[in-house]
Amino acid sequence: MSAISSFSDDPYSDENLADPYPLFERMRAAGPAVWLERYDVLAFTRHTEVRDILVDHETFINGAGVGPKNLHKEPAWRPQGILESDPPMHGPMRAAMVDVISPRGVRSLRAGFQEFAEELLDRLIAQGEFDAITEVAEVFPIRAFGDAVGIPREGRMENLLPHGAMNFSTFGPEDDRYREYFAKGDGTRDWVMANCARENLSTDGLGSKIWEHADAGAITSDQAALLVRALLSAGLDTTALAIGNTLRCLSGSPEAWQAVHEKPSLMKFAIDEALRFESPFQSFFRTTSRATEFHGIQLDEGQKVLVFPGAANRDPAQWGEDADEYRMTRQAGGHLAFGMGIHQCVGQPISRLEMDVLLTTFATRVKRIERVGEPVPYLHNTLKGLSSLPLKVIAA
Ligand code: HEM
Repeated sequence: MSAISSFSDDPYSDENLADPYPLFERMRAAGPAVWLERYDVLAFTRHTEVRDILVDHETFINGAGVGPKNLHKEPAWRPQGILESDPPMHGPMRAAMVDVISPRGVRSLRAGFQEFAEELLDRLIAQGEFDAITEVAEVFPIRAFGDAVGIPREGRMENLLPHGAMNFSTFGPEDDRYREYFAKGDGTRDWVMANCARENLSTDGLGSKIWEHADAGAITSDQAALLVRALLSAGLDTTALAIGNTLRCLSGSPEAWQAVHEKPSLMKFAIDEALRFESPFQSFFRTTSRATEFHGIQLDEGQKVLVFPGAANRDPAQWGEDADEYRMTRQAGGHLAFGMGIHQCVGQPISRLEMDVLLTTFATRVKRIERVGEPVPYLHNTLKGLSSLPLKVIAA
């Protein structure tokens, strides 16, 4: 049995959220897990252990919540959906989602995404200077993904991102930051739930396709509404942050931009490496369903464990000594930015298509990008990215 190092550090402090990597390095070096005194919880940061937890959904369950609260003992803040469920309940919901987000269904979204990407690039090139977060990374999924789901355009801007940020706050501690995101998200829940109802969705969007599974009896009407809610809660903030993080990585290196401009097919690799390097979804919890010994550590039944995919994605044991470098040519496959196992991100094909279409169009039409201001970190207990990235572009 290994001795566990105890850490007084707070991974949720402003400083550690803005730059978590020095703390992650110390946590990984201290052993397969460390005890976080402030939160009374075991935390896992190495790639092997984080992956092994995520793929063992029988021992490390989601139904008791993916935040610090044990939802088998305390009430949830809202009805639990696909992510906070275990088999057998999880299976039919997952099957409905996988069917709706099929390769064919996703391919049919490309033309709409491309049209908006061109329109956006026309505007950005005409402007010359803009904020790559508020004027690119956020507006693209709000328009492209919102249209794909089939929700009304009005109200998206005010509701979708604050609603997602509030939702993702529940995957971390209930501190002042959590309360701030809840205050900002106040009222957005009603808008989101109203737009999950069948009568408010366009007839040809992903939302309506989910409801067809309820008509066929594969899922209940309550589950259909929760699945549309899952699309709207999980799909916006994460994709916006991933777009911003990729532009941050690429705007920091003129050579990298030149490479994607000359060969836009490299953008897929640039995106995947950015997902590894700056993972938008940094951490969440699991709960043990039974007492077990895991990598030499004794775990009790019903114990919460905190996992950091954001740290696992920087583990030199997995990625080599240059794990802290952004290197576009790296084989970043195997990163945990989309999770792993039965809950691995079901929306991944859509977010990849959004990022690929937008950023490939960007790289094709823009010869050079320059930073014209300092990137400003977005501080959130679960998500990582920027709230501002001022850029200047020179058209091809
Ligand atoms: C770059 C963007 C995205 C990232 C980094 C991301 C990340 C993740 C991660 C890490 C998980 C697993 C969480 C866990 O195991 O506890 C997850 C699950 C999920 N994601 Fe995403 N996601 C992204 C985009 C999306 C989009 C666009 C959608 C909607 C179309 C979506 C819908 C979901 C859903 C519904 C689940 C739960 C799946 C299940 O429990 O079976 N995500 N995502």
